[in-house]
Amino acid sequence: MAFVTEHYILAVDQGTTASRAVIINKNGRRVTAASQPLTQINRHPGWVEHDPNLLWNSVQSVISTVLINAGIHPDQIDGVGIVTQRETTIIWDRQTGEPIAPAIGWQSKQIDKRTPELIEEGYADLIHEKTGLFINSYFSAAKIRWLLDHVDGAQERAERGELCFGTVDSWIAWKLSGSAIHVTDYSNASRTMLFNIHTLDWDDEILKLMNIPRVMLPTVKSSAEVYGHTQNYQFFGAEVPIAALAGDQQAALVGQMGFEKGIVKNTYGAGAFIIMNTGTTPLISNNGLLTTIAYGLNGEVKYALEGSIFVAGSAIGWLHDEMKMIADEPAAKRAALASTNDDEVYMVPAFSGLGAPYWDEDARGAVYGITRGTTQNDFVKATLQSIAYQTRDVIETMRKDTNLAIPQLKADGASSRNTYLMQFQADILNMEIDRSADEETTALGAAYLAGLAVGFWSDADTLATIYQDGKTFSPKMNADRRQRLYHGWQTAVKATELFKL
Ligand code: G3P
Repeated sequence: MAFVTEHYILAVDQGTTASRAVIINKNGRRVTAASQPLTQINRHPGWVEHDPNLLWNSVQSVISTVLINAGIHPDQIDGVGIVTQRETTIIWDRQTGEPIAPAIGWQSKQIDKRTPELIEEGYADLIHEKTGLFINSYFSAAKIRWLLDHVDGAQERAERGELCFGTVDSWIAWKLSGSAIHVTDYSNASRTMLFNIHTLDWDDEILKLMNIPRVMLPTVKSSAEVYGHTQNYQFFGAEVPIAALAGDQQAALVGQMGFEKGIVKNTYGAGAFIIMNTGTTPLISNNGLLTTIAYGLNGEVKYALEGSIFVAGSAIGWLHDEMKMIADEPAAKRAALASTNDDEVYMVPAFSGLGAPYWDEDARGAVYGITRGTTQNDFVKATLQSIAYQTRDVIETMRKDTNLAIPQLKADGASSRNTYLMQFQADILNMEIDRSADEETTALGAAYLAGLAVGFWSDADTLATIYQDGKTFSPKMNADRRQRLYHGWQTAVKATELFKL
């Protein structure tokens, strides 16, 4: 009797609030998925940390769960793709594999001394030119510096080559391979503020300015190639190629088939990250957007412009957790639809400063336009609208930087399932919103990259034949109203920037 065995790709999506594993079949469809929340440690106001070992445990646990649930033998997995929250910084001992401190999360506000000094000393332009980034504690360099300053003996140990730095992708690849590989990919490296996006190498001048030893940094590779293999026992006896590494936001662009120049996507997660593929040339923004690497594939690097919005879905979480205004995420949509005001309430969710295009680390959130008649529903609606307004700020900036029309925005991520938000987004942008069929676009991107690396799919054209179309939202708001509402938002942001404690 002949057995027909199907083969699959395993995608790991390690995010800020959860670790996920997804098994994808040859038709690009999800066979099974598992998710496990990731604990955030808040030792001080504004700090967001993770336990790297618990993070690793959660990844192992979701991988085992999907394999067991799908009844798939590891031999049937042709490759693993790992995409992760970016910038989050882990330093561990090269010999023992033990982290020297908790992972510092991307939103965390440990401000090291050196980062603001670099601005005062006039290095902003040099760093922007080389890395495409603005000097900010969001990026890994500041977090590495902070750890080297605050963990006893860390600087000396790093200089002696005893410590490894990694973003979360490096850490998972190190663990999955049984400490055999210390690697990252271009897309993650481009978020460290240490990587020269033109020479595609760590930048010695910046490393010197930050006093970060090169020896602790991972080898940087493309986003889709076989870096190593999973250690036997973790996959119940199989050595599976580790075949893709990428930042989660760039992976979502790939999962949306964003291989062509000019394609723009927004992932509505805890934050919202709008990325435009700008092709093979890095385009430096004059208006507050980041220049970053989208991915490296088949010997070619594709660049992107990015608008990073720090607070999007996490504001909906705040309505639930702290304000007790909604029972769950779907309740936010119901509240917005039940609100009967004239959209005159504005909420600026600058909980951890303002990201693109403002880059104001000290801004704090505010609500404007409330009256005695304002209701809880109005408040919830204003919070959802703030996500759409922030997105428009970034799209307007992309138009300025590129002189491109941008006819359509591709949407994915958890909050893209909120149809009120998607319609308001189409209205306030006066643009078509093309929402992905599957909200797990990030994992799909990981699978596409790994599948291309191991020949599971031959090329992007093959992926196009299996890609599933989603739903389109078209603008319905009249121009006067759109202009009036957006003007109100811009006024609210200006007022927020003025208010400093
Ligand atoms: O830059 C931070 C970003 O990668 C976080 O993404 O989806 O984990 O919130 P997410």
